Amino acid sequence: MPVIFGKAPGKIILFGEHAVVYGQPAIAIPVLDVNATARVTPILNTEAGKVRVQASDIGLDELLKDLPEDDPLGAAIRATLNEITPTHTPAFEIQIDSNIPISAGMGSGAAVTVAIIRALSAFLGRPLSNERISEMAFEIEKLHHGTPSGIDNTVVTFQKPVFFQRDEPIRTLSISRPTHWVIADTGKQTPTRETVGAVRALYDGSPETYEEIFAEIGSIVHVARQALSAGDLPFLGQLLEKNQQFLQDLQVSDPALEKLIKAARDAGAVDAKLSGGGRGGNIIALVPPERSSQVQEALLEAGAVRVMPTILRETIA
Ligand code: PMV
Repeated sequence: MPVIFGKAPGKIILFGEHAVVYGQPAIAIPVLDVNATARVTPILNTEAGKVRVQASDIGLDELLKDLPEDDPLGAAIRATLNEITPTHTPAFEIQIDSNIPISAGMGSGAAVTVAIIRALSAFLGRPLSNERISEMAFEIEKLHHGTPSGIDNTVVTFQKPVFFQRDEPIRTLSISRPTHWVIADTGKQTPTRETVGAVRALYDGSPETYEEIFAEIGSIVHVARQALSAGDLPFLGQLLEKNQQFLQDLQVSDPALEKLIKAARDAGAVDAKLSGGGRGGNIIALVPPERSSQVQEALLEAGAVRVMPTILRETIA
């Protein structure tokens, strides 16, 4: 039996975070320079069904039977075994690696889950469809993140830019002109669960006001879809700025994010906004290609702990 690999990229949200939890659309793209991989190798001459799980990044080397029920890696392996219910499970070892920053709004949890399901289902001789992998990853996201919208598992599974709306069929984005972006991390980690909860508290206090804000964000996302497709930089800049203002109204921006957004603008970015849950985490800046290095340097000088350029183009693999 050969060694089998499964892989999934990181992701970043361009427009529509938070409002997406309330049924509005959002746009997210895969970040292909970082990814999670799972490698399954049979273990010979040992009892059937023995499963060894290794994740060197987090110092994990355990038998599956010893992993707690709520361990995310164990959950992905068990879900795949349940889905396929093989008549005979050979003993195997699964090695998981990822260079996607953790708790940084880049979908690392979903990518690890997808890589595991992909590798293990192929190893067991029943590679699952992307639709099914994404559904399974969504269930596992729920275990760990409360009420996810489903955007992470969708983007990392399909590896395509998506216009995502809860309970709607997946719509990919058609891109006629590439756009260049820079992701920058404040280094401050705030769990998405916390910011989603804070927005929920605001909403519960005044549902009509916040419904209106979510609807405004939804309108931005609809227009942004066309502007992205056409590569219309000035218009995209205006939309980023507007979306950021609504995120300020939702109280999920903070001084560290604002500082990076300003630094990006001052260094020649078209515009920038926070990306993901907020109160720390990342910003995303749209840049004219010739300004990308300058913007990256300015962001590092302004305190970003990591910058990552990425290009949104049609032929994303
Ligand atoms: O922090 P991230 O990139 O995982 O994104 C969170 C996005 C939210 O809209 C705030 C929550 C969600 O589940 O969509």
